[in-house]
Amino acid sequence: MKIYSKIMAAIIIGTMVFATGCASSKEPAAPATEKTAETEKTGEKEQLVMATNAAFPPYEYYEENKIVGIDAEIAEAIAEKLGMELVIEDMEFGSIITAVQGGKVDMGMAGMTVSEERLVNVDFSDTYATGYQVVIVKEGSAITAPDDLADKSIGVQESTTGDIYISNDYKDADIQRYNKGTEAIQALLQDKVDAVVIDREPAKVFVEQNEGLEILPTEYVVEEYAIALAKGNTELLDKINKALEELKADGTVQGILDKYISAE
Ligand code: ARG
Repeated sequence: MKIYSKIMAAIIIGTMVFATGCASSKEPAAPATEKTAETEKTGEKEQLVMATNAAFPPYEYYEENKIVGIDAEIAEAIAEKLGMELVIEDMEFGSIITAVQGGKVDMGMAGMTVSEERLVNVDFSDTYATGYQVVIVKEGSAITAPDDLADKSIGVQESTTGDIYISNDYKDADIQRYNKGTEAIQALLQDKVDAVVIDREPAKVFVEQNEGLEILPTEYVVEEYAIALAKGNTELLDKINKALEELKADGTVQGILDKYISAE
């Protein structure tokens, strides 16, 4: 979208230069060259810029230097339907809503839960996946259910719903906020916190990657993931919802979820 306005500006400036050029009969060809350069850069497709936090497998993470995962693939499929070029911008999770709100990006997609607080600042697309907040502890921990967290030290990823729910539900808990889920996991391994609250699928990945951890069988909260858009951007919202509907109907979304999430 940003590039689109750049092209418009290039065309307008180009026309102005062209007009001036004609008057003085100097280099009338210059503006045309400039416009071609812009068009080549964008591959003639309008960009769909997505903000994410690529430290959240299997939804978004790096494979070498490419961001892959469920969200990256669903976004790619949406962009394709819209005839747009997907561009992914990686940032801290807590910056995504602000970036969407301020129009720096077109959408935020980051295993992001629809919540009342967020709906004050952004709009959400239809949901494309269910999320679960779970509790990770060291094997054999005295914590066996979410209620045991009340007076414990808990690691969360800053600004996530895990952070928000724990802060509201357990006022006496010592909450340690980390930039990334993996940092919270390191703290748990080093006994700096007693438990980590995070979304289930990343939790499964982190538990698999580290010895001696387990996920409590009782889920803490069930939630819905959706794409965040600037308030009132109904044109893009409608297009995305239509694309999502088609991608759900033809099994594309389920296929992507199945590719990254193994059945229990
Ligand atoms: N579902 C949680 C939330 O919306 C956590 C999402 C974290 N996502 C990420 N890419 N780090 O707050």
